[in-house]
Amino acid sequence: MGDCRLIYRSTCSESFLPNEDLRALVHKSADYNAAHGITGLLLMSGDKFLQVLEGPDKPVNHLFNRIIRDNRHHEVELIAFEQIGPRYFDDWCMHLVDLFDLARQPRELLAEKYGAVNGVIRIPERLHEIFGLLLDARAICRNQPWEEDFGGAGEAAERAAPAAGSERAPAD
Ligand SMILES: Cc1cc2nc3c(=O)[nH]c(=O)nc-3n(C[C@H](O)[C@H](O)[C@H](O)COP(=O)(O)O)c2cc1C
Repeated sequence: MGDCRLIYRSTCSESFLPNEDLRALVHKSADYNAAHGITGLLLMSGDKFLQVLEGPDKPVNHLFNRIIRDNRHHEVELIAFEQIGPRYFDDWCMHLVDLFDLARQPRELLAEKYGAVNGVIRIPERLHEIFGLLLDARAICRNQPWEEDFGGAGEAAERAAPAAGSERAPAD
């Protein structure tokens, strides 16, 4: 059985205190994901989460079922689920990127590219832009030279993602 990619977005619950609680969540999730061959990235922007999970179909599905029921967030919206060839997000089992905490330069570039309200970078609506944002975040976290990699990630997103407005997930 091959790998799949699942992307969803959600809204952080008011009772959930990102600083301490999120660190604990990330630690626990990293262990679980590693044990089940799952990799990915969790973005936070303001009170919004955007997570990509890649791994074997069944474990990813099972995990998503648990995530949906988690009351630390709500309005969980599935954005993409598809079979993939090579993984795009295999650097980390679980890695949290709070876009607000990024260095000024990458934050401003993301704000320019995706829009921002009161300094909070917008999570885009269209799948190819969502995928682009995830790839940009991956590039930032890989700590590659920012100017070179920003363009590269954008090109990769265009190669990997379907046309704007498509409901389908990006194919590898
Ligand atoms: C935004 C968000 C992302 C999460 N991502 C993961 C994850 O990648 N892996 C994981 O094991 N748990 C993740 N969790 C936690 C799960 O929802 C759940 O609490 C955990 O799997 C334990 O499940 P259980 O309470 O049914 O035992 C996440 C929770 C939230 C709110």
